[in-house]
Amino acid sequence: MNEITLREFRFPEDYQAVFTLWQNAGDGLGIGPSDTPEEIYKKLQYAPDLFLLAECDSRIVGTVIGGYDGRRGMIYHLAVEPEFRGQGIGTRLMDEIEARLKAKGCRKAYLLVKQGNSAATMYEKRGWNEMTNVRLFGKNL
Ligand SMILES: CC(C)(COP(=O)(O)OP(=O)(O)OC[C@H]1O[C@@H](n2cnc3c(N)ncnc32)[C@H](O)[C@@H]1OP(=O)(O)O)[C@@H](O)C(=O)NCCC(=O)NCCS
Repeated sequence: MNEITLREFRFPEDYQAVFTLWQNAGDGLGIGPSDTPEEIYKKLQYAPDLFLLAECDSRIVGTVIGGYDGRRGMIYHLAVEPEFRGQGIGTRLMDEIEARLKAKGCRKAYLLVKQGNSAATMYEKRGWNEMTNVRLFGKNL
């Protein structure tokens, strides 16, 4: 495999390739109203250093988004192009986003895994623990 490099997302030029990658990522990644160009632009006003891409020969092959509100961190949209999976790219993206969250002072982060998504195994191997004593609530504001 050619060299994989990580870099920050650049708006707007990376948007279409990233959106296509998410569309091809499978059921584990839910695309929603927060993924329009306007919403991605808005996210980048807060923490542009927490939206990372993996690149191979100028092709975007992986993504991860982080968030930090001063108390807890969140991780979203970890995805690797199907033919690039199983080569440690997801691990590198997670290593980097976790390191960046920690460097900002984040002591605990959360992420959501859809029922039945075997990617949960990856997180468990990395020391993420499923929180079985809470219920997740959401509300559209
Ligand atoms: C999850 C995903 C990003 C992993 O990317 P990747 O580059 O293949 O991951 P890595 O090669 O770094 O794998 C790291 C470890 O996790 C394991 N792993 C990764 N994905 C896994 C999966 N879907 N099921 C079981 N184990 C998995 C690997 O076997 C590897 O284990 P090892 O270190 O013991 O060899 C990729 O499978 C993907 O894009 N999935 C679709 C989108 C998705 O579901 N994202 C998660 C949303 S919560």
